[in-house]
Amino acid sequence: MTHMPLLFTPLTLRGVKLPNRIVLAPMCQYSARDGFADDWHLVHLGRYAMGGFGCVMAEATAICPEGRITHGDLGLWSDAQIQPLRRVADFIRAQGAAPAIQIAHAGRKASMQKPWHGNGPLAESDFARGDTPWRIVAPSAIAVDAGYIQPDELTVDAIQALIAGYGAATARADAAGFDVVEAHGAHGYLIASFLSPITNRRSDAYGGDRAGRMRFALEAATAMRAALPSQKPLFFRLSSVDGAEGGWDMADTVALSGALKALGVDVIDCSSGGLTGSSTTRNSSRGPGYQAPYARQTREEAHVPTMAVGLILDGPQAEALLQGGYCDLIAIGREALANPHWGHDAAKALDYDREFSRWPEQSGWWLDKRAKAMARSPAAE
Ligand SMILES: Cc1cc2nc3c(=O)[nH]c(=O)nc-3n(C[C@H](O)[C@H](O)[C@H](O)COP(=O)(O)O)c2cc1C
Repeated sequence: MTHMPLLFTPLTLRGVKLPNRIVLAPMCQYSARDGFADDWHLVHLGRYAMGGFGCVMAEATAICPEGRITHGDLGLWSDAQIQPLRRVADFIRAQGAAPAIQIAHAGRKASMQKPWHGNGPLAESDFARGDTPWRIVAPSAIAVDAGYIQPDELTVDAIQALIAGYGAATARADAAGFDVVEAHGAHGYLIASFLSPITNRRSDAYGGDRAGRMRFALEAATAMRAALPSQKPLFFRLSSVDGAEGGWDMADTVALSGALKALGVDVIDCSSGGLTGSSTTRNSSRGPGYQAPYARQTREEAHVPTMAVGLILDGPQAEALLQGGYCDLIAIGREALANPHWGHDAAKALDYDREFSRWPEQSGWWLDKRAKAMARSPAAE
């Protein structure tokens, strides 16, 4: 261990020290019942904490039942939902990682099928298993596409209630023991749909020009910041660009990121797209690190720490992004599904942990012993 890669350099945000720069990207499991976490979430998230991730972020967790994408989403709209998530957060922390959670409302992209049931609006085929649709809300009454539910346009009173809901869910996340909370402001869900002129056609204080369209995001972030103790960092995930004609773009992202920073947001998590489709990842004709330039521009122009995400596949690629000044944190999504101990493999690939010392000792002791025995064996010569 002669050198310290940036990927394994701790980062302190407010009072929370992340042991390295590797973050598990929030990934819906669509496996909760009535919003409650269970053993699935403990094992799913726990394996990344054991796998060398410095911060493990639980999936989009809804502020109210109507804000779920599917019947299987996690929720924090009730105090009863705190305890099973506390078990998850406690386990993550016990492994030396920082537990994080994303707080969300799906807006007009709520009331959908689980991906493996079709990834579209709920249909007859879903009703038999109890997955019936519900009324959905959005800044304007514009459906995702033909065949999708038309949302009800939110009244100002309803908007105020939702902003309070972001705060209340954040307070519950704090009570559950999460060290980091992220606002889901990306992928066409409720906050993103207020930001984009494509989905926000309001003419009141929550629409119109960029300042009006940003109001909901800023008020939600303010409510979340107020609900978190000052030593806990708040992240905000944005779709840096809609990728659609006349949509939200990088100049908007830089302006919003600066405003979020001013009200106490600590990291901008730089995703993109998802405004009109049902899925954020179906457009797969993108190359490795395709969203990292958004993180770099936001970092340079809004002077705020950023997290890069999107087809970051291995340690050397992640290290190059950090060295290149693209970002301060690296989020790993699908590659972590393929390899839950991605963090340990990255350390090996960067020649940072030859002794398996970063692994849980229950595994690391054996792997080191085996590696040394193999190196000594005649077959190795
Ligand atoms: C199964 C799955 C679930 C996802 N759920 C969420 C989510 O809850 N919140 C979110 O912001 N993004 C979600 N995403 C997007 C990921 O966080 C990530 O941004 C995206 O997969 C790109 O990163 P990757 O190439 O490393 O997978 C999800 C992606 C996948 C594959």
